[in-house]
Amino acid sequence: MFPSYVDSHTHIVYAGSRESEFVMRLNGATYEEIAAAGGGILNSAKRLASATEEELFDSAWSRLMEVIKTGTGAIEIKSGYGLSLEAELKMLKVIKLLKEKSPIPVKATFLGAHAIPTVFKNNREGYIKLIIDEMLPAIAKENLAEYIDVFCEENYFSKPETILILNEGKKYGLNGKVHAEQLSHAGGVEVGVACQASSVDHLEFVNANDIELLKNSGTIPTILPGAAFFLGLPNPPARQMIDAGLPLAIASDYNPGSCPSGNINFMISLACIQYKMLPEEAINAATINSANAINLQHELGSITVGKRANIFITEAIPDYAFLPYSFGNTRIETVIINGKKFYKN
Ligand code: NIG
Ligand code: FE
Repeated sequence: MFPSYVDSHTHIVYAGSRESEFVMRLNGATYEEIAAAGGGILNSAKRLASATEEELFDSAWSRLMEVIKTGTGAIEIKSGYGLSLEAELKMLKVIKLLKEKSPIPVKATFLGAHAIPTVFKNNREGYIKLIIDEMLPAIAKENLAEYIDVFCEENYFSKPETILILNEGKKYGLNGKVHAEQLSHAGGVEVGVACQASSVDHLEFVNANDIELLKNSGTIPTILPGAAFFLGLPNPPARQMIDAGLPLAIASDYNPGSCPSGNINFMISLACIQYKMLPEEAINAATINSANAINLQHELGSITVGKRANIFITEAIPDYAFLPYSFGNTRIETVIINGKKFYKN
């Protein structure tokens, strides 16, 4: 019996899929090259613009049901494929509906600062102004998000822009998150810590100085092993972070571009096999530490009196190490949500 996984970083509201970009990468193109040619996040934004709320809800709902069956008992979902006032609100309304109907807790994150949309290609200040002056007040008015996230990366959002956007979000009570140090060392950890972000996520290019900064902060470092695996990125220095005493979290990043899977069992196997995390470290990372990244540590992340009974029961296995060891398989037999049987394999 295990506490359900807490998936503190996903983008499960999206339209269409991006297997053509996957094939482009197999033929040698990089994620950055595909994005520069109008693919990547902008490709998903184009598809999302013509999708209805109902279509978005239905496809996200089936992803939600899929991940609950593979052990996820709470989830964070980001906007960020809208990139216009109208489409960001559409995404966040879908997330709100998911939250209302979902059997598991859902946390909503506003990620308007995911990419500069094509219409603002030569006017990034204009887009940032739109985020600050129009998107944020509209989101706050309808209470559509708990967190604000920024993709801090070359060709996306700079350090000063990330600080500005996180601080504006804070004025509306939104806690910060940063997509940090994923494709290069762009300073996302430094600004995340400075803005007291709840988490900094990805971390493939984290350095020793960042680890020092994180040690003196309340910011949860979160790795997304599925995205690093799928894009062939360098391994984040997970061992160094754990050895420095950091409460390292694991989440899926489930999204159409960099991780079309929300299977946390597989993420845990990757963390052990690729990063040499021990099974107990990886399981803690995907449960209690990830719960901390979305402020659910008092409700989920461990099996204890007073917490919500989101639990999964595996088939008979010899040891908890068997979970990451049997990579690619799901050993889950029964999923309990809110104390009731939700699914039996
Ligand atoms: O978490 N890094 C930025 N955002 C996503 C990828 C989004 C996409 O390619 O659609 C991520 O990897
Ligand atoms: Fe992400």
